[in-house]
Amino acid sequence: MNCPVSKKVFSLLLCICFLVLTGCGNTSPVDNHPENDGAASSELSSATTSTTESTTESTTESTTELTTEPTTEDSSFLTSESSTTFTELTSEKTSTELTSEKTSAQTVTRGPDTSGGQKLVALTFDDGPHSSVTNRILDTLEKHGAKATFFVVGNRVGSYKKVLKRAHDMGCEIGSHTWSHQNLTKLTVPQMKEEMKKSVKAISDVTGEPVKLMRPPEGGYNDVVKKNLDYPLIMWSVDSKDWKHRNAKKDYDAVMSAVFDGAIILMHDLYPATADAVEKLVPDLIAKGYKFVTVSELMEIRGYTLQKGKTYSSARPH
Ligand code: NI
Repeated sequence: MNCPVSKKVFSLLLCICFLVLTGCGNTSPVDNHPENDGAASSELSSATTSTTESTTESTTESTTELTTEPTTEDSSFLTSESSTTFTELTSEKTSTELTSEKTSAQTVTRGPDTSGGQKLVALTFDDGPHSSVTNRILDTLEKHGAKATFFVVGNRVGSYKKVLKRAHDMGCEIGSHTWSHQNLTKLTVPQMKEEMKKSVKAISDVTGEPVKLMRPPEGGYNDVVKKNLDYPLIMWSVDSKDWKHRNAKKDYDAVMSAVFDGAIILMHDLYPATADAVEKLVPDLIAKGYKFVTVSELMEIRGYTLQKGKTYSSARPH
């Protein structure tokens, strides 16, 4: 080892090892997605602009996932000019509402915000339809001139066509929560496509309209799911945890303590306590100046064009 050439070679090898170990090549995408992850995070610490255009969407996305630091899935914290594409760089917030955080990058295009200062919120209900609970929620919405979005399980639709039709006729939005509520990350691509195909047909047969949105069961998705679903993935930013609480006051408090302008609120139209909570939540949020809109309305008003394979969890004003 006294030979200077050997020393140089040794140093070079050390250097190469260091670069490989520290991921200098960055040859694999950042993918920290836990399978049962729920909401996307809802705080942004910083954002940077991307020079890529959304017309090269899939390429852009995979490129950003390879070259950026972990970012939130949420696409709602951009404060940019219209028609500019952005890549968010964020650090994750700590939140009691989130069981885990999702990190990834996505580019989104955002147009003007036309809300004119109106505070907006999107109530969403998963896992129904349910005869009495869904109808009670609809009664409350109807009484206050409010709307919500229902992500229904396809194999339940046949049994509850009437309530689904009522929701649709009231102006509520109906999205898919797949056919049989399986975590899509555990299915093959043909299986996940079949889950979607069957559910959207069941829904469309009742509403007479195509389905525009989906929410993955258990909030479970990964890059394969995103690339193979022909729908935007609607996540949430406020989790009522009603499935756990089964208690109207706790549901109510969970929502009221976390709600913000542009939030997407997660609830489930399966539990009587949820319907009880909604009876109080809707008038109280209206009293605080919120307007209840569907997810598609929220996104449109806030300037988003929903794109398939992208995730959305809120739409703050800008
Ligand atoms: Ni569900």
